[in-house]
Amino acid sequence: MKGAPFHPEPFTFNLPMATVTIAELLERKTRGEKIAMLTAYDYPVARVLDEAGIDVVLVGDSLGMVVLGYETTTPVTMEEMLHHAKAARRGVTRALLVGDMPFLSFRSTLEESVRNAGRFAQEAGCDAVKVEWKPGIEDVAQAIVRAGIPVMGHVGLTPQTAAGEGGFGMRGKDAESAARIISQAIALAEVGCFAMVLECLPDVVAQEITQRLAIPTIGIGSGPFCDGQVLVTYDLIGLFERFRPRFVKRYADVAGTIRQAAGSYITEVRTGVFPGKEQTSSMPSEELTKLKQALG
Ligand code: KIV
Repeated sequence: MKGAPFHPEPFTFNLPMATVTIAELLERKTRGEKIAMLTAYDYPVARVLDEAGIDVVLVGDSLGMVVLGYETTTPVTMEEMLHHAKAARRGVTRALLVGDMPFLSFRSTLEESVRNAGRFAQEAGCDAVKVEWKPGIEDVAQAIVRAGIPVMGHVGLTPQTAAGEGGFGMRGKDAESAARIISQAIALAEVGCFAMVLECLPDVVAQEITQRLAIPTIGIGSGPFCDGQVLVTYDLIGLFERFRPRFVKRYADVAGTIRQAAGSYITEVRTGVFPGKEQTSSMPSEELTKLKQALG
C-alpha cells in the first residue's frame, strides 16, 4: 500500500523452525519420556516420519550404504550429504533435523570442521550436526558448539572407522574398553554436546552412560536403558536387504511390497491391461474429425 511503512517478511527460507527443540529433548530425559529418532535421506520419507510424530530425523551417513549402494559409509562426501539433507529439510517441519558429518568432513583442521558443520546449518537448514568419536573429537565438537551449532556425539561402534577397528561387532564388552567409551561420552558431554548416540554397547554399559550424563542418550543396538532409540529407517521398513544387524526390528516389508507392485505392473503392461480406461484420456469426437481433416 502506498505510503505504508515497509515491513519485510522475516527471511526463513520457507522453513518452519523445529518444534521439537533441544530443550524439549533435555526435558524428556528429566521426565523419563523416551525419544524416538529415525534416519531419512529424502523429502517423502522425511515428511512421512515427521507426520508420524518422530522426534528427531537424522540425515545419517548410512545414506552411503542404504541409498547410494557403497560398501561402507567411508566414501560419503559433504556434497552428497548436503544434497540429501536439503531434500529431507523440505519434508521436516516439526522434528529436530540433524545432519551427520561424513568421514573426512571433521578430520583435518578445526576451521574446516566448523566450516562443514556450518554448511549443514546454512545450506541444508539442519538444526544440529552429529559427529562420531575419534581421538581429539572433543576439540572439534567444542569448536562447532562455540560457533553456535548444536552437536550430537556418537560413541561405541563408530561405522566410519569400524573396518580398521576390528569390524562392525559390539563394543565395550570388557571392563577396560567399556570404561574408555564411558569417558569418551563424558568428555563429549562436557564440551557441550546436547545428546549422545550409543551404538552397539552392552545394555549395562549404555545404562551406566545414561545415568552419568545429564544429556539424553539415544541407543542403537545398546538395549532399552537409553533415553531414546534410533534405527536406520530402511532397516526398519525392510528396504535395505543386504544384511540385517541383530538389533534391527523390521516393522514392514517395503522391498517385498515394491517387488509385488512392480511385478503386477510388468505383467499388466505386457498383457495390455495397463493402462486401462481409468488411466486413459480421450479427445472430443468433433476435435478428432477436425484433426483428421487438417492432417488430410
Ligand atoms: O548414519 C547413521 O544412520 C547413524 C545412525 C545409525 C545412528 O549414524
